[in-house]
Amino acid sequence: MLKSISSVKIKGKTLLVRVDLNSNIQNSKPVVGARLKEHSKTIKLFSSKKAITVVLAHQGRKGQEDFVSLKNHLPLLEKLIGKKIFFSTWAEDFKKKISSLKEGEILLMENTRFLDFESEEKTPEEHSKQPLIKDLALVSDAFVLDALSVSHRSHASVVGFIPLLPSYSGPVLDAEITNLDKALNFQEHPRLLFLGGAKPEDSLKTLSFFLKENKTDKVLVSGIFGELFLVALGKKFGKKDEFFESKGFFSLLPEIKGLYEKFREKIVLPKDFALDKNGKKANISVEQLPLDFISKDIGEKTIQDFSKEISKAKLIVFNGPPGVFEEKAFSLGTKAILKAMSESSAFTFLGGGDTGTALESLGFSSKQFSFVSLSGKASLNYLSGKKLVAVEELKKAKLELK
Ligand code: 3PG
Repeated sequence: MLKSISSVKIKGKTLLVRVDLNSNIQNSKPVVGARLKEHSKTIKLFSSKKAITVVLAHQGRKGQEDFVSLKNHLPLLEKLIGKKIFFSTWAEDFKKKISSLKEGEILLMENTRFLDFESEEKTPEEHSKQPLIKDLALVSDAFVLDALSVSHRSHASVVGFIPLLPSYSGPVLDAEITNLDKALNFQEHPRLLFLGGAKPEDSLKTLSFFLKENKTDKVLVSGIFGELFLVALGKKFGKKDEFFESKGFFSLLPEIKGLYEKFREKIVLPKDFALDKNGKKANISVEQLPLDFISKDIGEKTIQDFSKEISKAKLIVFNGPPGVFEEKAFSLGTKAILKAMSESSAFTFLGGGDTGTALESLGFSSKQFSFVSLSGKASLNYLSGKKLVAVEELKKAKLELK
């Protein structure tokens, strides 16, 4: 069982809070998205309860363009929280800064990935021996992990404080786990799994777990993943086959075929596609394959079939859009599926890295669904039956905040 910080008195306590502020970056500035908004609520809550909140988070990956200072996030966070936020780099005397904070005050630490040791995959005990981790723990009363989206990483700021401090889950992490468990243990039928997106390796793991553990009654396969089912059954796409091959997707075909043979009555395949025909959109049926053009969305017949299944379901787990929704001409499938889900009375769980972006850019609000996860890879891992290292460590945490 996770111990939640929500049931603990935090007034006057110094909390090290690991959130996820990782955002899309444009001209060095983060674009405000669901993550910034939701984690700001946690920070605001702790501050309103008169805790001293020390925020730990990362931005981007070393060597990539979005690897920027969290100083860029400061004005946005101050606006969302409605309060001044102090900031410290790793080179400053952060221990002194933290010790001088008063009740309700907030300090944002610099991007944790600016520390070379942060991203080394070490055990919690190994990370906890790092002098800088020890220093931070010395001036803090408890650790709170609030981000499911980093819980699959055995990184220093995610697991390193758990052996040293009373450690708890935060409200965002609590909500993610509650809703993931609800989706995984849902008892009403029919239960529907919708798989799309551009990462068929991940979709395959989730599908395999849901089918083998009898967690779903029907699966709608779309996007590249849906197309690979047709390839596994002997269809040739034409031009797109080169793309499948270049990405190494053909290696997934034996497992896809095996799952289809065993569970064919549960799997609904796409019947048609929207193609990019020299910049023009064309609807083609599976029978018309192979073609010299690239498919970018599910077709009209498939939208109808899938929407019908969605309208009957009591549970819908959605992972990844069915088409290239970023291109207006090919956003129809994603829009139609999300619309059908938003109109259904089912418990609707949306996960996948791109889902939040898809919702916003297509004019949906997360309020139209039962739960929208802020997490990509970690929620997919959880939905594939994998244990998340930081969640497991938190469950074992023994120390209590006095
Ligand atoms: C994410 O964006 O999914 C999280 O912030 C984790 O980022 P990472 O994949 O770079 O660890």
